Amino acid sequence: MDADAPPPTDARPLILDVDTGIDDMIALLIAATSPELNLRGVTCVAGNVEIHHVARNTGKILRMVGRGDVPVSIGAARPLQRRLRTAPDTHGPTGTGYVELRGEDRQLGTTEYTAIPASRYLGAHVSRHPGRISVLALGPLTNLASAVQQGIDLAGSTREVIWMGGTLEERGNTTETGEWNACVDPEAAETCLRAGAVHRIMPLDATQDVIFTMDDLRALPDTHLAGIVRDAVRFYVGFHQKADGIDGAYLHDPVALVSSILRPDLVTEEVTETLACDTSSDPYLAGSLYRAEDESRPSVKVATAIDPEATREELLTRLARAVSAPHG
Ligand code: BDR
Ligand code: CA
Repeated sequence: MDADAPPPTDARPLILDVDTGIDDMIALLIAATSPELNLRGVTCVAGNVEIHHVARNTGKILRMVGRGDVPVSIGAARPLQRRLRTAPDTHGPTGTGYVELRGEDRQLGTTEYTAIPASRYLGAHVSRHPGRISVLALGPLTNLASAVQQGIDLAGSTREVIWMGGTLEERGNTTETGEWNACVDPEAAETCLRAGAVHRIMPLDATQDVIFTMDDLRALPDTHLAGIVRDAVRFYVGFHQKADGIDGAYLHDPVALVSSILRPDLVTEEVTETLACDTSSDPYLAGSLYRAEDESRPSVKVATAIDPEATREELLTRLARAVSAPHG
């Protein structure tokens, strides 16, 4: 998308909730440059790294593709009830795998950081445009749960709320049965599931269907921004080699964006479940999703498989466009 051109009038209004993070960074790049999307705002939540790193990375990434116009709202600095845990092994100490997002600090002053905290930002937006906004959450659900606790009807006043998180059958990436975004703030996930505030989930069962290799990244156009993405993903691949024994990386967040919103036809299997999130004090269980007995609880759609090759191609094509954006 030409960064100076307004989004097409039929572009889908979207708010991204992120804990930027290497794979969040790629999702941001794609969301900010996909012409079908009208990125109305980005809300930040602590998760992969502390909130100040999330906010700084998010502002920088948007500026690097000429989208300093997108409002960035700073949200929860810690989970609803638990101590914050971060993932320096996975994403590096500041969330970019040791890659310096250099040279943009001066310009950060012009990023639209809004003084409105994330939960209120979400609430204000969805109530101003009832039924129109999609929300895609790519981190712990703390901001969304806070909105629910403030009485905001996310389920009823959005077009759709989608979450990358949890796992059904796939082994967890944080505990045996727990996925990172769910494990960081189990109470938030449970609050949202109980309230029906999430309509659709993209769990590990779907996002781990595709492995991205360094060869995939080497095929990107030769731009400064492509170099940054490649270096960050190289760190992420190093982590996956040790943790999962794969020669590549799972790009959970951009895979969720591409296969839930941009190309929903890429989802090949989906189930409808009534889910809850374990909030016990047992660290091996907290954050695991399970089928709830409570029949009054709203159900949620869960993607359990995607088309790996078509998803890889779609994501890389969009990433190639993003890293070639005018300010890339
Ligand atoms: C999720 O956890 C984070 O590390 C990633 O950014 C992604 O959102 C995958 O489990
Ligand atoms: Ca994330």
